[in-house]
Amino acid sequence: MKTKILEINPKRIDLTKIKIAAEEIKKGNLVAFPTETVYGLGADALNEQAVAKIFQAKGRPFNDPLIVHIAGVKELNRLSKHVPPVALKLAKVFWPGPLTLVLKKSELVSDIITAELDTVAIRMPADNIALSLIREAQTPIVAPSANLFGRTSPTNAQHVADDLDSKIEMIIDGGKTKVGVESTVLDITAKPVQVLRAGGVSVEQLKEIIGQVKIGEELERGFRSPGMLNSHYSPRARLILVEERGEAQVREVFRLALEHKIQGFKVGIMAKEENQNKYNGFQVKVIGKGSELNICATNLFSTLRNFDKEGFEIIIAEGLEEQGLGLAIMERLRKAAVPKNEC
Ligand code: TXA
Ligand code: MG
Repeated sequence: MKTKILEINPKRIDLTKIKIAAEEIKKGNLVAFPTETVYGLGADALNEQAVAKIFQAKGRPFNDPLIVHIAGVKELNRLSKHVPPVALKLAKVFWPGPLTLVLKKSELVSDIITAELDTVAIRMPADNIALSLIREAQTPIVAPSANLFGRTSPTNAQHVADDLDSKIEMIIDGGKTKVGVESTVLDITAKPVQVLRAGGVSVEQLKEIIGQVKIGEELERGFRSPGMLNSHYSPRARLILVEERGEAQVREVFRLALEHKIQGFKVGIMAKEENQNKYNGFQVKVIGKGSELNICATNLFSTLRNFDKEGFEIIIAEGLEEQGLGLAIMERLRKAAVPKNEC
């Protein structure tokens, strides 16, 4: 199939174009579209055959559940049979935005979306193209990140085309995404509520609103969120993450880079802006200033993809502080660093 590219200016949305894309969704076809986090691969959430196409196009296993995207908080009551007050409290503060809530599902939500769990993940994206598309399609839209399974998420339309060209009906090109990492997935059926995936809304922000929040490894994540495999977000190159801080980090990055260069590998370094001049003789890509973690998040996936495009075999990555969006970045870098044969 030939994938159509539809350019839409996010600042002046052309509704006739949105309607064309919405028609594809209504017909049961796949449309990739921008959200504020990453590009999503959308299908009509109420059409099982359309949903099944997503797994096929991405090469995604059926045990990895999908997020349902909505354009209004009221939709929660259709998709969930129990909407606790904490859901509405969080929605009020963070929606539209990069927070996904896991709730008890209603009958309306098919098992193929939830991988047969009795819960469903729902979010309202803060992107006008995404919201207009959902409204015009008159249906909730399921959308995983629009990349091949296991690869880094796309933050522009070209990334989507690189992975999914000729596998899907349409890509809406709405420019570069703002947040750059995926939404935070929060299980509000757990007590206390639990972050299953760090993302665009930070744990600090969540704690301000609801107090106690459980994070990560304290529970068996594998069980609660089957899609959260260890090796994920992977560039083709092998990624080595250096978690030391300060001068020790610089020394270790340099040592590893040299070691692999001597072995004949094409080595690249992903560094903070303040360290970029400390790696003489190596090719360095800057992720951003260590103190500007939001900007680092925006650049993360495209930087990794650029290393791949330029044929690097080894990426030595400097770790960042685990505060704010830094936690989401580090979670992704750690997964990217797991060798593919160990996943
Ligand atoms: O920012 C985002 O969340 C992007 C944009 C497109 O909205 N979407 C995205 O989808 O990242 P995806 O499919 O790549 O990641 C969804 C994650 C998966 O790790 C999946 O396991 C988890 O959400 N998830 C979905 N439904 C779940 C459920 N019922 N219980 C627990 N985890 C769930
Ligand atoms: Mg994904």
